Amino acid sequence: MAVKINENYLLLESNYIFTEIVQRVDKFQKEHPDANIIRMGVGDVIRPLPKAVVDGFQEAVDEMGHVETFRGYGPEQGYSFLIKEIVANDYAPLGINLSEEEIFISDGAKCDTANIQEIFGQDNTVAVTDPVYPVYVETNVMAGRGGPMDDEGHYQGIVYIPCTEENGFIPDIPKSPVDLIYLCFPNNPTGTVLTKDQLAKWVDYARENGSIILFDAAYEAYIQEDNIPHSIYEIEGAREVAIEFRSFSKNAGFTGTRCAYTVVPEELVAYDTKGQTHSLNMLWNRRQTTKFNGVSYPVQMAAKAVYSVDGQREIRESIDYYMKNAAIIRESLDQMGLRVYGGVNSPYIWIKTPENMNSWEFFDLLLNKTHVVGTPGVGFGPSGEGYFRITAFNTLENTEEAIRRIADLSL
Ligand code: MLT
Repeated sequence: MAVKINENYLLLESNYIFTEIVQRVDKFQKEHPDANIIRMGVGDVIRPLPKAVVDGFQEAVDEMGHVETFRGYGPEQGYSFLIKEIVANDYAPLGINLSEEEIFISDGAKCDTANIQEIFGQDNTVAVTDPVYPVYVETNVMAGRGGPMDDEGHYQGIVYIPCTEENGFIPDIPKSPVDLIYLCFPNNPTGTVLTKDQLAKWVDYARENGSIILFDAAYEAYIQEDNIPHSIYEIEGAREVAIEFRSFSKNAGFTGTRCAYTVVPEELVAYDTKGQTHSLNMLWNRRQTTKFNGVSYPVQMAAKAVYSVDGQREIRESIDYYMKNAAIIRESLDQMGLRVYGGVNSPYIWIKTPENMNSWEFFDLLLNKTHVVGTPGVGFGPSGEGYFRITAFNTLENTEEAIRRIADLSL
């Protein structure tokens, strides 16, 4: 016996939820080779990259093949040509002024929301909404902040804020003080949103309590309604208490191409044990420069093309396409008498399972009887038990076919 493992990993469920789903569906497909499975489980896009993006990508690849235009290591924080577009297009129209140094380009919001906890001390109390994108919880468990899981599926070291039908999936401010708060809106998995007033309560809480909000805005492009904030920095005072994560995955189809960014405002500070303040922007920069060598030049050029006139038009077409699917799913399931949420400002539809079936029972029922795959709500946390998530990320034809098959079940 010599090398020891990080035993925190032993506290995790054996599989990441989306790996578990893929494995179960692959097994089912092997056993039923003729089944035409419609996958609406993992939130992965299906529409191709916009033409403008492919063109930008290709030109940059060509540049890499010529000695005059070849590029080696880029800045770990990302190229200025992309950061400028982000500042001008994603934030300036919202009345938010960011400096280039506040933006860090990365290869994914998943990685950034997973890695951000590294710059915070071990003793911080972490709060998450429940259900929740599992990455926030599991990375804190890996880092030793989770502790063992209780019988209900809560890691004992983590504060869970239930979001259920009873509170309209709107998280209440926790009763005991918390330090780090992960919020994701539009929400994955429930598809619900916070209004500006509702988000302002969290910003006020963080300011009064000295907490930091880790705000995942990966789905902001799906917001259709007014008065729903696209960025937490639309809320007064948020620059002092919030880090924001954005992604090109869900708006521009970069799930396989990989590009995202994180905003760490210069005002943001946290404390050492002696009570000295430290800039989180500097700490994140320190972390990234040591552990990350930046996103490839062609990928950043592809991301830049998202902001071109054609790029913007094309990504809007894709979002509209998915939102049409979302409306079909939402309205059809509602007509079948199911209780459905989300799908208005989000590509996710959250369903209360019929007849008090548990989440995995409903998963099995749909897979076996309709060959439609969704995600069991309990995979996102104990308060997700008895719910089920379906994504709008599919073709219109598959979406309509899936709905026809579910309707035939007469739930
Ligand atoms: C999901 O289905 O929730 C997605 O896979 C989340 C992600 O982008 O990692």
